[in-house]
Amino acid sequence: MTVSSTPSIIAIDGPAASGKSTLGHRLALELDYLFFDTGTMYRVITLLAIEKGLDLHDEAAVTRLAQQTELDIRPATVNDGRTCDVLVEGRDVTWEIRRRKVDANVSMIAAYAGVREALKHQQHRIGMRGRVVMVGRDIGTVILPEADLKIYLDASAEERARRRSAEIKARNGQANYDEILEKVIERDLIDSTREVAPLKRAEDAVVINTDQQSADEVFEQILNLCK
Ligand code: CDP
Repeated sequence: MTVSSTPSIIAIDGPAASGKSTLGHRLALELDYLFFDTGTMYRVITLLAIEKGLDLHDEAAVTRLAQQTELDIRPATVNDGRTCDVLVEGRDVTWEIRRRKVDANVSMIAAYAGVREALKHQQHRIGMRGRVVMVGRDIGTVILPEADLKIYLDASAEERARRRSAEIKARNGQANYDEILEKVIERDLIDSTREVAPLKRAEDAVVINTDQQSADEVFEQILNLCK
């Protein structure tokens, strides 16, 4: 009998702009796995809450919205730099969820216990199907503690802010490094100090600090871990 040694459930966690999505997507393509970026879910709820004019501090109202929202994440159908299509009620919100207003509020919304509870089961169910690279903040610790391979991607806040600026400029957007750095630090603080499922590395996660490494080098390292 041959037993495949490639891990089936791969969890990648780490702080904002640590390269999780880029690397996770590349890994999923390489292995022919599903790429599932859980951050998109929190972003969709944040976008809808803003659009509907909800008071973002009203946890009960935002939780109800999360419970009622049907969102879908599918393989990319448009070749514009996206890693997947994000759809809500049939509408493509892939780029809208990257807006600055969403960035500024998503961590507050993601800290609500009810919102996390509403999305948790969906994330767990998809992850447990296997052949998946799942990316987020609490995948290895809370959503899929049974993951076969857990990676915690880290980098200094300055390096992450530099990368995020470059990413925004590449999409022809306006990027202010100082402002981005401030927001990255603020988001990390909220994510790592919240009560429910805070950002932290799982005890059995492999930590990769990407400060001094190119995306290619990190990718090779992760690929080696999969073999
Ligand atoms: O791409 P970036 O790292 O900037 O953020 P993201 O992965 O799109 O996640 C956006 C926000 O959603 C994070 O700052 C967290 O507050 C939240 N999030 C979370 O709480 N748990 C996850 N599993 C994924 C994201």
